[in-house]
Amino acid sequence: MSRKIWVFDTTLRDGEQVPGAKLNQYEKLEVAYQLKKLGVDIIEAGFPSSSAGDFNAVKEIANKVGNTDDIMITALARAVKSDIDAVYNSVKYAEKPLIHIVLGTSDIHVEKKFGKSKNQILDIGVEAVRYAKSLLPNVQYSTEDASRSDFEYLWKTIEAVVKAGATMINVPDTVGFAEPEEFGELIFKLNDRLKNLNDQVLLSVHCHNDLGMATANTLAAIKYGADKVECTINGIGERAGNAALEEVVMAMNTRSSVYQAYTDIHTKEIMNTSRMVSNFMGLDVQVNKAITGENAFAHSSGIHQDGLLKSRDAYEIISPLEVGLDDMELVLTARSGRHAVKNALTKLGFDRLTDEQFEEIFADFLEMADEKKEVYNHDLFIIVENYFTEKNIPNQAHVSDNFFELMDLQVISNTSFPSASVKMKKGNQILEGSAVGSGPIDALYSAIMDISQLDIHLLEYNISSVSRGKEAVGKVKIQIEFRGEKYTAKATDTDIMKASAWAFINAINNVVVEHLLPVN
Ligand code: KIV
Ligand code: ZN
Repeated sequence: MSRKIWVFDTTLRDGEQVPGAKLNQYEKLEVAYQLKKLGVDIIEAGFPSSSAGDFNAVKEIANKVGNTDDIMITALARAVKSDIDAVYNSVKYAEKPLIHIVLGTSDIHVEKKFGKSKNQILDIGVEAVRYAKSLLPNVQYSTEDASRSDFEYLWKTIEAVVKAGATMINVPDTVGFAEPEEFGELIFKLNDRLKNLNDQVLLSVHCHNDLGMATANTLAAIKYGADKVECTINGIGERAGNAALEEVVMAMNTRSSVYQAYTDIHTKEIMNTSRMVSNFMGLDVQVNKAITGENAFAHSSGIHQDGLLKSRDAYEIISPLEVGLDDMELVLTARSGRHAVKNALTKLGFDRLTDEQFEEIFADFLEMADEKKEVYNHDLFIIVENYFTEKNIPNQAHVSDNFFELMDLQVISNTSFPSASVKMKKGNQILEGSAVGSGPIDALYSAIMDISQLDIHLLEYNISSVSRGKEAVGKVKIQIEFRGEKYTAKATDTDIMKASAWAFINAINNVVVEHLLPVN
């Protein structure tokens, strides 16, 4: 029978420990609202004794996000009275508050970090739980560095803190040292003893990714009896990060017969949450990261595109729609095969090409793909119409006259009036515009937007370097909104202003293809 697994999200505590990822109070609250929408059971909102700012952020989240009984709000305390007070005084505003206490159990922590005996540490832990329990009914105890602890001492600690009132026991693999089979076995043994002691206490795991095994260890723990998992969005967290919520949840969904367990996560909110966390924290998601990486649902090789067009399950185990993305993305690149290109051309209405015409157009496509890296629908129109002109094939539509092309640009960056002048082409028309902005990109995009005369909103601008040194190539990815729909486009160039302009123009041309062609 399928068991419910509790999802405890620690993006705002362990995730926020990433250097440079600190959020302000407004951003923390927004992320917390989004986590609630995602359907997590518990939000760990911070470490309130660390600063007044963190205390206030936890308090606000408890007040505003924790105001219903479908979510618990917690925060972290060391096993000292002042930390526990700070947690209590910030989470108590939630309908369901929880105090989370952490104290090490491994010899390294007990002897080297604290310089105390095992019995002394155990007494401190028990005292802390008793005190927390006098404040609130729900108390979680984390046995820090559990995976490197002596098993009998670990159990002795768990037994004592449960008797003192702990309602959740969290077993952390603090330094990402565990291995799935070994960790599964540890959880199996602990769960067996714990459920005999008190079957109302939840057994939880918290895995770090130092050896790239955080998700695997978390899933092994689920298989062997864990009731609750601690995760972060995009797997962010201390050092190599934590188990990624989206990976654990989607693995459970996709391989449900293996795990026989479910969560209450609304998977369609995964991408929104991932993007919000990445944007607010300024932490890019690795492009090939499972589930939330940019390429996780993009298929570019000819063999794969051909297989997918014949039957999606050939290369797709999760529908992108399930995680809140649009449908699968067949990216047209130099590695795309004939099947994918023919499919794209047919969708644009070029469905009566002879084999010979298609072969010649495909050769032109490959030439453009080598140069441009990614070929868009508007590029396909240009390729086909140029081919028609060259071969004197009658073509009344002249659709490519509706697309914008960059001819020249000048961007001035300074502290008072950043400005930009842009020259573009649309069919035979030469269009020019200039604008000032809050920065050079703002000025550049205002000028292009003016020229296009379209009511477009820029949603996302992302720049990264794809090579190093003086000749570094900048890759710009943007997302715009037009009439409530989102369009994404990219461009690369050694000149980042040119790449930025082309990315924007590519996105505008996508809008033209979808909405503004005479054939629409
Ligand atoms: O990694 C760890 O051990 C922790 C605890 C506070 C659960 O983050
Ligand atoms: Zn941690």
